[in-house]
Parts: sequence; C-alpha cells; structure tokens
Amino acid sequence: MSLIISQKPLNTPGAIGVFDSGFGGLTILKSIVEELPQYDYVYLGDNARVPYGTRSYETVYNYTLECLQHLFDKGCNLVIIACNTASAKALRTIQQNDLLKINPHKRVLGVIRPTAEALISKTKNNNIGIFATNGTVTSNTFPIELHKLKHSLNVYQQPCTLWVPLIEANEHNSKGGTYFVQKYYNELLAQNPNIDTIALACTHYPLLLQQLQKIVAPNIKIIAQSDIVAKSLNKYLQRHPEMQLQCTTSGTRQFFTTDDTASFNEKATLFYNNEIQSQHLAL
Ligand code: DGL
Repeated sequence: MSLIISQKPLNTPGAIGVFDSGFGGLTILKSIVEELPQYDYVYLGDNARVPYGTRSYETVYNYTLECLQHLFDKGCNLVIIACNTASAKALRTIQQNDLLKINPHKRVLGVIRPTAEALISKTKNNNIGIFATNGTVTSNTFPIELHKLKHSLNVYQQPCTLWVPLIEANEHNSKGGTYFVQKYYNELLAQNPNIDTIALACTHYPLLLQQLQKIVAPNIKIIAQSDIVAKSLNKYLQRHPEMQLQCTTSGTRQFFTTDDTASFNEKATLFYNNEIQSQHLAL
C-alpha cells in the first residue's frame, strides 16, 4: 500500500508585511527598510481602530487577525507585527493555531522576543524596566518572555497611558507632554531605583527618546526597538533561506491605512521622516 502525503505548495513570492495599530509601526518599518532595502514592503496601519493598547484580548486578537488576513491577501508570506500590544495579546495564538489553518507556509513575527533578548544582553544588574501600553503591561508578556530566557531577572513594568495620545497629537514636546514623560519615568524608578536598562516597548515611544535621554540617570540604558527588530529580521532571513525565497526584492514600498489617507500621509512623516502616499483599505 502506498502512502500519499499531500503537501500544500509553497506560496508565490510576495512583499514583506508590516502591521501596526496605527502610525507607530512606521518607526519599525523605517529601520527595517534601512537594514534590508532590497525587499518589497507593504505597511498596514489600522488607524480606524487605534488605540489597541486599551482594548481587551479578544478585540486585539480579532483586529490583528483580520489585518493579517488582508496582508496575506496582498501576497505577503512574512508579516512583522510591529505593535507591542498586538504582539503581546495575539501573536502566540495566531502562530500556534491560526497560521496552520490559514496557510502553514506563512510566517508572522513579533517584536517582544528580540526586545527581550536585547534587554538581557544589556543589563548588568538584572533590574529591567518596561515602558508600555496598559494592554502590554497587563498581558505580562514581557516578564514571561524575559523569564523564559533568564530566571534571575527583576522586571518592573510602567503603563504609560497618555504617551500614545500625546504623541499622536504632536503634544509630546509641550509643557504638558514633558510633565507626563517625567511622571511615568519617576513612577517606574519608584518601583526600583536600581533599574539599569529600560525598554521603550511601544512603537510610538522612540519619539520620546531625546526627551527621555535628558532626564534618565546616566547609568541607565534605554532600548528603542526599531533597530533591534530590523537586525533580528535580517538574522531570521539569513537563518531561513526558504523564507528569503518567498520575499520579493524590487525595493517597492506600499502603505495602507484603514482610515483617512490624507491625514495618514500628513502625520506619517512624524514617524517615517519621508513623504508617504497611502491607500485606503476597507475593513
Ligand atoms: N502600536 C501600539 C503598541 O506598540 C501603541 C498604540 C496603540 O495603543 O494602539 O503597543
């Protein structure tokens, strides 16, 4: 008796997808494009439903899966979830359950694991701080992932509820914005003044880097994610030549938003430093 094993064929090569709840993921895309300019990229910002940081598990999971499906429909075989909240609340279930059903040859990667690895390589005294959205903090994904890699760590999380709206309103450098940057920094350090390494674990927070560097004690290192994620993607593609073959290399960039394209184009420059012509994606 002969055994016939049916295997789905590998996918037609396509662009690399980058997904975020809104604009913030453009900070990650910018670094990825600098690191790996040869690839084609499709960015999707779910601006119509941002913020994800205040929403339930179920909502973040449903929104994320729906957006990923749109990126798969656009031919992406590899998608980076740039959003920490979506990485924290939806990535694991999508990797373990949904991808098998949708298409086992597609891959979805998040931002938390590479950030955790970077934090561990930088800390000297094992006291780590996390600035993140409320959703990322309550999911506990950072402490869980960090402790999987190293037991002897103390992880302190600070929800920074007002940072995303302040940045989206371009008010983060105002007097009020500066007050809230200082406030959340003080609250994190009040948990343990010996914290020596802090992650900016939200796609928007790199825009606060300069401000934070002015107030943070000189012995504390701040980790912004974009370069870490870009380098980690490069290493992933080197380790997975079969995925490289599924990613096209004409150097094109396409931008989709689920909300208004004109306001996306206007605000996007704050995060991407380049002009963007986006297209609307109807949910
Ligand atoms: N992109 C989200 C993150 O990185 C922040 C914005 C939001 O709350 O949706 O957590």
